[in-house]
Amino acid sequence: MNSTSTSNRPAILVTGGAGFIGSHVCVELINSGYLPVVVDNLCNSKEESLKRVTQIAGVEPVFYQADINDKDAMRKVFAAHSFEAVMHFAGLKAVGESSQLPMKYYRYNVAGTLSLTEVMEEFKVWKLIFSSSATVYGDPVSVPIDETFVTSATNPYGRSKLIVEEILRDIANAPNNQWNISLLRYFNPVGAHESGLIGEDPAGIPNNLLPYVAQVAIGKLQQLAVFGNDYNTVDGTGVRDYIHVVDLALGHVAALQSLDKSGVGCRAYNLGTGSGYSVLQMVSAFEAASGRKVPYKISPRRPGDIASCYADADLAKSELGWEAKFGLERMMQDAWRWQEKNPNGYDS
Ligand code: NAD
Ligand code: WQD
Repeated sequence: MNSTSTSNRPAILVTGGAGFIGSHVCVELINSGYLPVVVDNLCNSKEESLKRVTQIAGVEPVFYQADINDKDAMRKVFAAHSFEAVMHFAGLKAVGESSQLPMKYYRYNVAGTLSLTEVMEEFKVWKLIFSSSATVYGDPVSVPIDETFVTSATNPYGRSKLIVEEILRDIANAPNNQWNISLLRYFNPVGAHESGLIGEDPAGIPNNLLPYVAQVAIGKLQQLAVFGNDYNTVDGTGVRDYIHVVDLALGHVAALQSLDKSGVGCRAYNLGTGSGYSVLQMVSAFEAASGRKVPYKISPRRPGDIASCYADADLAKSELGWEAKFGLERMMQDAWRWQEKNPNGYDS
């Protein structure tokens, strides 16, 4: 195959493909010989991310600015391409905001997914990879967490992911169906492409730890508030399974390729590294990678936070043939390169 030709590449619909994870997945899809066709309404991203994808990977993703809830627009996209599969990233992800605006979260995340699957059925596209989250494990009884753990939700965002997982399982279990679905439960995606061209570009003050730390290191924010140091963890601060976004993207390509082998059904996989790091360990690692100080103060616990969350990632290894390869140092180096080269994100 000519590496830059698009006509003979299998087309993959990537909803939310201009976002943080979706843009990295577009790069890895192109690297693996596919053509990403992106539908994004740009409510939390910029089209510039896709221009950067083209710069990195040498093939331009096809882009449609549209909302996944707009069935007529989606029908036009499906009519214009013969999709091998759909990777579904489009949705809202701010946990705190979801408690303020629950209807919006259910509209985007639940109703949006249902609209998408209805159009997929109309066009007989049966392969779907869905962005789920470790949040579906709620407050787990122990760590590491494997896919057999009970699921629960503590906020509307988490419940939206849980509801979609259950809808997709019902769809795949209905008699005489042809659906082939992977639910990928991400732990905490961080880092950026090694080029420093694409990365996480949160609007406003970041909610998540790594973008906040990066903005403190570059001097945009004054200091980090460490949410609690009295958890039962190595140093009292919260422990999470941080995974490099490029590893996560490669996990999607592995899941896509295994859909062909696995046949009809719906399966859930953890995408994590299996290792947990505390907030203070993350701060030290970022300081080492950036050569900058990250001032912090210990603050009260954030409501809804749990002490520890990290994956048992064995199932993805045995069934998808995938495991994370980048360690903490590399995650921090790549996150810092992106931040330093793009102090104002895609507006720089
Ligand atoms: P992101 O906000 O960067 O990307 C989501 C993209 O979807 C954005 O480009 C946004 O403009 C688009 N979008 C939102 N609603 C849309 C709609 N109705 N129609 C069309 N486009 C729409 O977020 P991300 O971090 O890349 O996350 C991608 C997916 O992964 C989300 O579903 C998120 O819930 C899930 N997830 C993210 C994390 C994380 O920590 N980043 C963890 C677990 C799961
Ligand atoms: C990580 C650790 C905080 C910010 C969230 C969602 C989850 C998933 C990933 C989408 C915790 C601490 C954070 C800060 C801090 N997203 N922290 N100061 O909460 O594990 O997961 O993002 O699906 O659903 O809940 O990630 O990055 O917010 O926090 O001390 O300013 O950093 O308490 O221990 P979290 P996070």
